[in-house]
Amino acid sequence: MKPSSPVRYTPDVETPLDDEQKVIDSLINDFDTILERTSEDYDHAVRSVHAKAHGILKGSLRVESALPDELAQGLFAKPGEYEVYLRLSTNAGDILPDVISLPRGLALKVVGVEGERLPDSEGHNQDFIMLNAPVFQAPNAEKFQTNLKMLAKTTDRLEGTKVATSKTLQGVDKVLEKMHVDSPAVKSLGGVPNIDPLGETYYSATAFRYGDYMAKFSIRPISDSLKALSGRMVDIDGRRDAIREDVRNEMKERQGEWAFCVQLCRDIEQQPIEDATVEWDEQSAPFYRVATLHIPSQDSWQEAMVRQVEDEMRFSVWTGIADHQPLGNINRVRKETYRHSADFRASFNACPYHEPSASSR
Ligand code: HEM
Repeated sequence: MKPSSPVRYTPDVETPLDDEQKVIDSLINDFDTILERTSEDYDHAVRSVHAKAHGILKGSLRVESALPDELAQGLFAKPGEYEVYLRLSTNAGDILPDVISLPRGLALKVVGVEGERLPDSEGHNQDFIMLNAPVFQAPNAEKFQTNLKMLAKTTDRLEGTKVATSKTLQGVDKVLEKMHVDSPAVKSLGGVPNIDPLGETYYSATAFRYGDYMAKFSIRPISDSLKALSGRMVDIDGRRDAIREDVRNEMKERQGEWAFCVQLCRDIEQQPIEDATVEWDEQSAPFYRVATLHIPSQDSWQEAMVRQVEDEMRFSVWTGIADHQPLGNINRVRKETYRHSADFRASFNACPYHEPSASSR
């Protein structure tokens, strides 16, 4: 059956809550607790969540030609090829040994994108930020803060406590369920399966403007080289940075291709904008490929690149064009909180961040 027409974007699809600014201020307070403790521990500031990177990659994003009108929007309006940076991470606010297995994150920066910018968005790049589950752990920022508060309390020098910290982050039944994981069992073992991040499918989980329409995004492996890694367990026995080491070995000898896919909102009731815990059903709102992400074989833990991306760069869904405006409560709250975390890092490390521009090829 042909899916119904996509719903057109209008500003009234968003319904901000009265106390959003209060929640933002309070979240920033909790992030400060984490940032202050971890920066003291490491004598270096790291991201307040997703602190540990497993790989930093460079590649390209090729936008498909001849896309139908409803998919040819924003960055994807015309065919073209862009440079990209990719950062793979796990979601704790401190740098934990990989034995503590957590959901995976992916941040993608597409360099040199034309179009009207989002408010306060520097440079000319478009960021996409995803997790390896189709839904987020909380319907709104206030609920997310409940998890964060426990995390802030347990972020400290004691690794044992850090195990508890990450277990807190794993208290995300809905997300685990979507990952086909039996969450009570997982909780008792202390981790989601320790799978290779290169074989995973990633989702924006939250909604974005897609030019005239609204969409969620996803990145899924399509090359055999990556599909072969889907569901592969990383052997973490005694290896603190096992994932980083495995990704490095894997990327040295293989190139990878992912499909960048778009899921248009086709029914605002069934595919809500404000509640990030509702999965948009793929039967009624299918994902379509609009671009191909190509990552050539390379050293994924190269010192200069690691420094550039970890310290001199930030990723935020609010770095981008107006055509991909982040929508919904979770996304609205991310604007100031991501900026605050990056500002803290820049100030503590005395290392300003900036948006990269395209290298001359
Ligand atoms: C209220 C909800 C959320 C808050 C308050 C929040 C907050 C943050 C903050 C403060 C950072 C660190 C930024 C930096 O230091 O540069 C971050 C990073 C990150 N977040 Fe969120 N986040 C939220 C929702 C989400 C969602 C919905 C996703 C994905 C579906 C996500 C995925 C990530 C990833 C992958 C990173 C690492 C980005 C990088 O590699 O630089 N977050 N988040």
